[in-house]
Amino acid sequence: MELPRPPMSAPKAQPARTAADALTPLVGSTFTSSVLTFYLNGKQVSLENPNPHLTLLEYIRSQHGLRGTKLGCGEGGCGACTVVVQTRVAATRPSGTKVKHLAVNACLFPLVGVDGKHVITIEGLGNVSRPHPLQERIAKLHGSQCGFCTPGIVMAMYAILRNAYDAEKDVFRLLERDIQLEGHLDGNLCRCTGYKPILQAARTFVTEDLGGKLESTPESSDQNGLEKAALDAESLKAGSASCGRGSTGVSCGRPGGCCRDASPNSDSSGAPLSSSPDSASTNATSVSGNEVAEDPSVSGASYAKPAKSRESKPSEEGVEIEVKTETHLEAPPSSSKAGVAQQQFSTYDASTELIYPPALYKFKRTPICYGNERKLWFRPTTLQQLLEIKDKWPSAKLVAGATEVQVEIRFKNSDFAVSVYVSDIEELQKNDFLTDLESGGEIRIGANTPLTTAEDLCKETYRKFGTQVSVLDALRKQLRYFGGRQIRNVASLAGNLATASPISDANPVLLASGAYVVARNLQPEEIRIPLSDLFMAYRTTSLPPDAVITQVAIPIPAKNDKHIIKAYKQAKRKDDDIAIVNAAYKLRLSADGAVEDIILAYGGIAPTTVSMKKAKAVLQKKKWFDSETLSSGLDALAEDCNLSFSVPGGMAHYRRALVLSMFFRFWHESVAELQLGDVDLNIIEEIHRELSTGTRDDYNPNEQRVVGKQVPAVSALKQCTGEAEYVDDMPRQDRELFGGLVLSSKAHAKIVDVDWEPALNMPGVVGYIDKNSIPKEANVWGSVKKDEPFFADGEVTSHGQIIGMVYAETALQAQAAAKVVKVTYEVLPAILTIDEAIEANSFFAHGKMLKKGIAIHGNMEDAFARCDRVFEGVSRVGGQEHFYLETNASLVIPHSEDGAMDVWSSTQNTMETQEFVSQVTGVPSNRINARVKRMGGAFGGKESRSVPFACLLAVAAKKEGRPMRLMLNRDEDMMTSGQRHPIQTKWKIGTTNDGKLLALEADMYDNAGFSQDMSGAVLDRACTHLDNCYEIPDVFIRAHCCKTNTHSNTAFRGFGGPQAMFVTECFMSVIAEGLGVDIDELRQKNLYKVGDRTPFLQQIDVDWHIPTMMEQLRKSSDYDARKAAVAKFNDSNKWKKRGICLIPTKFGLSFATALHLNQATAYVKIYHDGSVLLHHGGTEMGQGLYTKMCQVAAQELGVPVDAVFTQDSQTYQSANASPTAASSGSDLNGMAVKDACNQINERLKPYREKYGADAPMRTLVHSAYLDRVNLAANGFWKMPRIGYQWGSYDEKTVRPMYYYFTQGVAVSEAELDLLTGDHTVLRTDILMDVGQSINPAIDYGQIEGAFVQGQGLFTMEESLWLNTGELATRGPGNYKIPGFNDIPQQFNVSMLRADSDGKPLTWNHLRSIQSSKGVGEPPLFLGATVFFALREAVKAARTMNGVQENESGFIMDSPATVERLRLAVGDDLVKKTEVLRKEGEKSFFVSVA
Ligand SMILES: Cc1cc2nc3c(=O)[nH]c(=O)nc-3n(C[C@H](O)[C@H](O)[C@H](O)COP(=O)(O)OP(=O)(O)OC[C@H]3O[C@@H](n4cnc5c(N)ncnc54)[C@H](O)[C@@H]3O)c2cc1C
Ligand code: FES
Ligand code: FES
Repeated sequence: MELPRPPMSAPKAQPARTAADALTPLVGSTFTSSVLTFYLNGKQVSLENPNPHLTLLEYIRSQHGLRGTKLGCGEGGCGACTVVVQTRVAATRPSGTKVKHLAVNACLFPLVGVDGKHVITIEGLGNVSRPHPLQERIAKLHGSQCGFCTPGIVMAMYAILRNAYDAEKDVFRLLERDIQLEGHLDGNLCRCTGYKPILQAARTFVTEDLGGKLESTPESSDQNGLEKAALDAESLKAGSASCGRGSTGVSCGRPGGCCRDASPNSDSSGAPLSSSPDSASTNATSVSGNEVAEDPSVSGASYAKPAKSRESKPSEEGVEIEVKTETHLEAPPSSSKAGVAQQQFSTYDASTELIYPPALYKFKRTPICYGNERKLWFRPTTLQQLLEIKDKWPSAKLVAGATEVQVEIRFKNSDFAVSVYVSDIEELQKNDFLTDLESGGEIRIGANTPLTTAEDLCKETYRKFGTQVSVLDALRKQLRYFGGRQIRNVASLAGNLATASPISDANPVLLASGAYVVARNLQPEEIRIPLSDLFMAYRTTSLPPDAVITQVAIPIPAKNDKHIIKAYKQAKRKDDDIAIVNAAYKLRLSADGAVEDIILAYGGIAPTTVSMKKAKAVLQKKKWFDSETLSSGLDALAEDCNLSFSVPGGMAHYRRALVLSMFFRFWHESVAELQLGDVDLNIIEEIHRELSTGTRDDYNPNEQRVVGKQVPAVSALKQCTGEAEYVDDMPRQDRELFGGLVLSSKAHAKIVDVDWEPALNMPGVVGYIDKNSIPKEANVWGSVKKDEPFFADGEVTSHGQIIGMVYAETALQAQAAAKVVKVTYEVLPAILTIDEAIEANSFFAHGKMLKKGIAIHGNMEDAFARCDRVFEGVSRVGGQEHFYLETNASLVIPHSEDGAMDVWSSTQNTMETQEFVSQVTGVPSNRINARVKRMGGAFGGKESRSVPFACLLAVAAKKEGRPMRLMLNRDEDMMTSGQRHPIQTKWKIGTTNDGKLLALEADMYDNAGFSQDMSGAVLDRACTHLDNCYEIPDVFIRAHCCKTNTHSNTAFRGFGGPQAMFVTECFMSVIAEGLGVDIDELRQKNLYKVGDRTPFLQQIDVDWHIPTMMEQLRKSSDYDARKAAVAKFNDSNKWKKRGICLIPTKFGLSFATALHLNQATAYVKIYHDGSVLLHHGGTEMGQGLYTKMCQVAAQELGVPVDAVFTQDSQTYQSANASPTAASSGSDLNGMAVKDACNQINERLKPYREKYGADAPMRTLVHSAYLDRVNLAANGFWKMPRIGYQWGSYDEKTVRPMYYYFTQGVAVSEAELDLLTGDHTVLRTDILMDVGQSINPAIDYGQIEGAFVQGQGLFTMEESLWLNTGELATRGPGNYKIPGFNDIPQQFNVSMLRADSDGKPLTWNHLRSIQSSKGVGEPPLFLGATVFFALREAVKAARTMNGVQENESGFIMDSPATVERLRLAVGDDLVKKTEVLRKEGEKSFFVSVA
């Protein structure tokens, strides 16, 4: 029997099982090319099937001669990798296309994105022989210290310059506010300079006074305008012209010409120098041809004339004799008028810049596909092509700006096998902005339109339609503070939406506005998803897998609709930071002012962007301008946002407070804007800053022929052109391998097993080393105590501890392989905080103590019994990440003979590097040449913690007989290298009723981490700075070094001093408030006087200038009047408060308790041609040591600075060199250099007599050589006088701890937004006593840079751990250092020159090079003036809010983060949002002070 067949459904298409099945047909039909064609610095490049894993940065750095673009973080957060992409954008005018210059982060930018574009790197601008004016000006204006950030900053500024020029109209227009206030530089960080000189260099290009005209306007007499570009207001006062060239007639080189430019008829006799544009206009760069007159003392081909005289007393064998060193003044050089620095620049001519390659105008993009068996890139050019890919293979990863995707690849190990670059698809950048919006409608922004373009469109449309499109104004506001400029230049709204991050900045505005995404797949209909339906869960959307977002549609209400939309964002740092909480509100009112509809959208309080339900319900139909509406809204929001104490992301209380505070602000702003009634406008205004200004008292009365002159750093120009070489820039060695570290992922655990086999099977991997690779007794190191293993052995005691190292043919292969090493742990309990260490009695045996007065022989209780008042409290200062821009790096080159090795390392410590490499390799030290050319910043972080990396490489290099290189990723560096010590101090201080300090007892605890490193020495210095500048008769200080399971903390600029002086000023504030005395009177009353003794019994000598300086700065900063104005401001402002303070500092110079380190050697050799080779033990990290030492040698030998050359510091030349630290580099090495020069001068004496005082060095040495005179000398110096022994309590016999004190005073004034905790520093004035500076330009840079670093320490930089013990803040994304816009708005720096009567000062007791003082560390503490100004502001708010202080008074811990400041205000909103800790509940983050 035949049965009927059952009904058959149509066969269902089976999805392709593999990407190959799915995509091969498309590759065959559409994506037929695998070639990327682009231009790189003007030259065409065609890359056939490049490595698909490469970012643009990796590609650039792999090219010969292109090492100027740096890797600082790899996550878009520092700007060191900035390059400019020159590209055509859609025509803004019918006349054609426009060329735009986009600064982008090459570390994120996918290589595929360069097709059809022109990439310009730092090398494309200029070189040392022909620098671009930008490079020249930054170098000459001292805007580059370590130089690692410099190429990135030059490129960011280059983009500004290029976009400021309209080639069609031949007009260059650049306003100062364009540079500073439009966020062009917010994606660049510099850790050294304090930004001020960089802004000064940028300012030389502004044209606001020149009307944008390019043609030379030599007669321009707009003096006001020119003053805006003045390099230095003080030099103006001193008589030099505003543009910086001064009355010597040197052009500032600004576009359009300087007022002092030569008229065509000028002659050369004393007339102004010409700055006419370069004639080589067809050249690739814009370098001008005019020769800048050279200063013979700085540069002189004839190697100049000898100094006229110098004083040097012969030393007596074995006897320490102190020599007052002086070099008699000669006439100041021609470019220095009466000690005022003069600058001269070549002209900038925008029309001669590197052009857009003509071939690219005709370039037609075609679909591209390239890759290998592990990763494939597609680059479609049309939406249809893209949709076909998605249809065939829905999991193909779309990549637009890559600002999410590349971060996922790098830090979350995501690997996207099929990636599709969508930013070249025009349909995805299609913006539909209506011209008529009378009755409302919608505006559509292209999904992948770059955010900067979207920001401009929003701005323009808002300008045109006003409040009807207030949504666009709200969006613009969020986009302005969205990442850094480089991020905004490439990132897109679609990328933001598709990521669905809970802290997305765009999403709340779009959600509040009722926007929807428009998406497409191959179906004919567009897909519309309202934002309210888009976000499903944490980083998950409802977008169909095969769909692509094409546009974002934003509804626009009709013109007569009474509505308002506003947005707010709060982050740790205003610029380039992700939100802690953000919000957007849309409010629609009826004609009678009742709420018709309200949407309250928030980010940062839940796993997705959310809309508040309870608040919406409560507010509906309520009359908006009614205080009851406001308070019921606040109450409902508090319920809506009910975060628990342990909520992921932490900051529960602050986030709740922000939710309410933002609504509070919105209510006031909406009432004001809709004109519903009168409100306090003060609440509405957010903190904003004006243009940065400031002065240096650019005048050095002690300037000599070379020393004392503001010579630019010897490498400055190389740094600005990208030619300066750092370790990772050194050419690849033959058969070189790269290391990849295996780091502990646990804070404390037993290592049960390590399986490295999978790593050995990875591509390119050559080997693996760990504890078994060196003898057990060699597996230990340490600076002071050897207590730390190179490789963990059986146990890990800190997150980030080194377990092993894989090495492979490339860095990427080594890093990938290290990640697959499988470590099995048995987790043990971890101690993280100082409190936990105290409770567990977990200490290193180091405790030192200081006693003075009664404490020496008696009982402190007796001292306190004599006091009228006694105050007690606990102060905490958090740690600080060094965040040098160059992470730790090393290159070890083994030689084939005798086990010898060259060990290049980014280290401050060649001696320890040599010692421990010798230990782990078993090769004697005399065969290990530890070398340092320069570091990209160090700040103490490379004094010891750099050592292990060189050692690991040396072990592998010895094993394989091949060179090994390693440069840490930023997160690895932050996990392994330790930080400034968090310090907690329990203090008790007794006073008289009128505020005389009588007795101090303190216990200081530092968090050392898992090993000792220098924690003991840091505590020693902390103890010796707890007095700051105040006399206290009876003192007992005890130190405790806590052993915990954090990374091992280490040296950091200031070395415990800043933390201690912070505590001093904390108790000074508490005392002032407790006694009701004026804080300035209190400080004044207790200042040391000459003859007083410190707690370590050192006598304050005659060079004590603090009282004078306080008086001088009080006057010059107009302190008294401003203090009164601050009080008045606070009386009349309820939601903004200001604070101002004037605080002194003294900082002891010398390696305090390691006497043996206070020595130095130098080697000076003079060659036949008169050129001088100088080696000393000091290392260059941006502090200008090489420059100063060259100056000293040049001064002493009577040659120009450029006749002296220092290539590097190396142990083959300088044996047993102390680390370059303790601000003593110039003191120690300078005297050693001088000693060597003295010896040679002595030998040259007969020749000077024979050939005359003016004979060039070449003549002298030639003759001396023929007479067989030794022209090399080894200088040596040890610091005299010092030699403190701990436990010395006898004033008669005790030796000084410090050689001298560098002193300083600063005034800072800050304004605080009480609703958010945001602040700005309105003004800072610093007066430093640095003696007679060897190079004031370098010292100003050190002062400004250290101040800003201190400002970061005390206000912004916060290291956090997860409660499981992992370091949470591991990169610029969540660890914030100050940026361009955080420095004081007005920033004035001067140096002490005269006493109170105006008489020039001499430093009678000072015995150093030219009576100069160490300056690297001392100014850092002055950054705390910002903290204490903010504390004043908070205190004013607390008083206003009636906060009752407890008996310890108001003690605010450091850093004064936005969170800490907001929560300290003590207002009702803070009270309403308090989050109580439940039994056993742990906070998500832990701070360990
Ligand atoms: C240093 C730094 C700072 C940042 N700061 C901020 C900030 O302040 N605020 C903030 O909100 N975010 C910030 N971000 C995050 C990020 O920049 C944004 O999310 C950005 O909008 C992502 O856009 P993109 O084009 O780079 O996306 P990509 O990284 O290219 O892609 C992100 C996701 O979107 C998908 N996608 C892209 N285009 C489409 C499309 N057309 N259709 C469908 N899916 C698509 C991708 O497949 C991917 O899943 C920051 C990131 C970095 C690295
Ligand atoms: S390296 Fe690219 S931004 Fe830091
Ligand atoms: S000069 Fe900017 S980081 Fe060093």
